[in-house]
Amino acid sequence: MTVYNNKVEIQNHINKLKYEGFTFGFVPTMGALHEGHLSLVNEALSHNDFAVVSIFVNPTQFDNASDLEKYPRTLDRDVDLLKTLSENIIVYAPSVEDVYEGQTKAEQFDFDGLEHEMEGKFRDGHFDGVGTIVKRLFEIVTPDNAYFGEKDFQQLAIIKKLVEKHQIPVNIVGCEIHREASGLAMSSRNVRLKPDYKKEAPFIYKTLMAAKEQFGIKNADDIVKWVEDEFARHELLDLEYFIIADVKTLKPIETKENNTNYRAFVAAYADDIRLIDNLALN
Ligand code: PAJ
Repeated sequence: MTVYNNKVEIQNHINKLKYEGFTFGFVPTMGALHEGHLSLVNEALSHNDFAVVSIFVNPTQFDNASDLEKYPRTLDRDVDLLKTLSENIIVYAPSVEDVYEGQTKAEQFDFDGLEHEMEGKFRDGHFDGVGTIVKRLFEIVTPDNAYFGEKDFQQLAIIKKLVEKHQIPVNIVGCEIHREASGLAMSSRNVRLKPDYKKEAPFIYKTLMAAKEQFGIKNADDIVKWVEDEFARHELLDLEYFIIADVKTLKPIETKENNTNYRAFVAAYADDIRLIDNLALN
């Protein structure tokens, strides 16, 4: 397994293998790898000859300097984990300079309004940062397929839009959310949860499941109110938003339509750690 931190070197390696006819599946990550990430890498390995994994904590997608600073960085451990999966993995772990060449700034994107919903409302400029880095990484890696988790469902929708609007020749594959036994969605941020918060965090998934059960019976406004009340009563978790949205537009549901798929989306703070999750309702 080779680890590159220079884009020209990884491009040369990939180009050589492409010339020999090999296919590439790409998994962009910010490292601190967990089973959720590894499930994406395994998916890439089972449908492509090689998996390319990028490990890069992208500064332009953080709207909060302390969140960026505290983001876990465990490169050696990440590389060891990837080695256990396959030899056919190529890692790109660049410096900020290698990616941004002295211009650490996000491009501005129009994702047809998807960027203004949910995470876009609470994390200023986040999706411009994500769009900027993923577009650059696609240019460097030129993968056949790229794998993104439904854990970040809005991000997945935005990447599909990015590829469509900028005519980037890559197939985007969405992958299911990987959960801990408690139901808590796996996240690199979970390692920072203090024990009491870690114990309480599965409440987020439990509440999503309860909302799903109610979806066939109650109207959406009542479910939202119920969830907000549940969180208000919870001492350790602070709800930022709970929304039931149309999976295509990501806009909050107004009246329930037939032939439309809905998902519940939640963001909550456990101490200073922001957790997100979502669940298909129908
Ligand atoms: P990161 O949070 O490291 O996630 C990398 C990929 O792993 C994303 O596609 C994310 O949705 C997926 N993922 C994370 N937790 C998961 C889980 N529990 N189950 C399934 N998939 C999961 O998302 C990013 O990094 C960045 O925004 C990035 C796309 C790399 C751009 O910087």
